[in-house]
Amino acid sequence: MSDAAVPNAIGQAGDPSRRTWIAITCGAGVLGGVAVAVPFVSTLEPSERARAAGAPVQVDISGIKAGEKLTVEWRGKPVWIMRRTPEQVAALPKLDAELADPKSERHPDEFTPPYARNEGRSIKPEFLVVVGICTHLGCSPSDRFAPGAQPSLPDDWQGGFLCPCHGSTFDLAGRVYKNKPAPDNLPVPPHMYLSDTTLLIGEDKKA
Ligand code: FES
Repeated sequence: MSDAAVPNAIGQAGDPSRRTWIAITCGAGVLGGVAVAVPFVSTLEPSERARAAGAPVQVDISGIKAGEKLTVEWRGKPVWIMRRTPEQVAALPKLDAELADPKSERHPDEFTPPYARNEGRSIKPEFLVVVGICTHLGCSPSDRFAPGAQPSLPDDWQGGFLCPCHGSTFDLAGRVYKNKPAPDNLPVPPHMYLSDTTLLIGEDKKA
């Protein structure tokens, strides 16, 4: 499935410079993102410059349908907001035995804030919020939401994300599967809900 058609989404029509980082795929992904962000930041309005420099990003999540994902930019990184279906949420605990760190116990302060240290790695069960950058070498994994056999994935695939460069796979909570190059789950950024339909990325109640 593709990103939901919601304002603020990366990949929507508009200034192509906003989408520069989309072209970054693998290898030096994170460093490349920083490098290309510099020239375009200088062309932004003051509020946009603040956001690019790291200010929290407010996102309207009301348009994300179940099973869809929205991508927004925070600190030059892609942040995924996925609305999981009830079936996808219910399937998460069944995958634990196949995952490298199902309870997000590795480097929790770096990758999983306290309010996301649960099976879905989320505040609300239906909404996954993660930085879409692989913890191996910084590629941006691809959506592989459909369950079942398909190229580069096991026959019993339950839906998740595939990092194309070295084959790391992640479930729909951003948890990495065992025996993959990625050493950690996808990072959960600081975030909080301002209302049922508004998410703030980059700040939480603790901040
Ligand atoms: S960057 Fe190598 S598996 Fe993701």
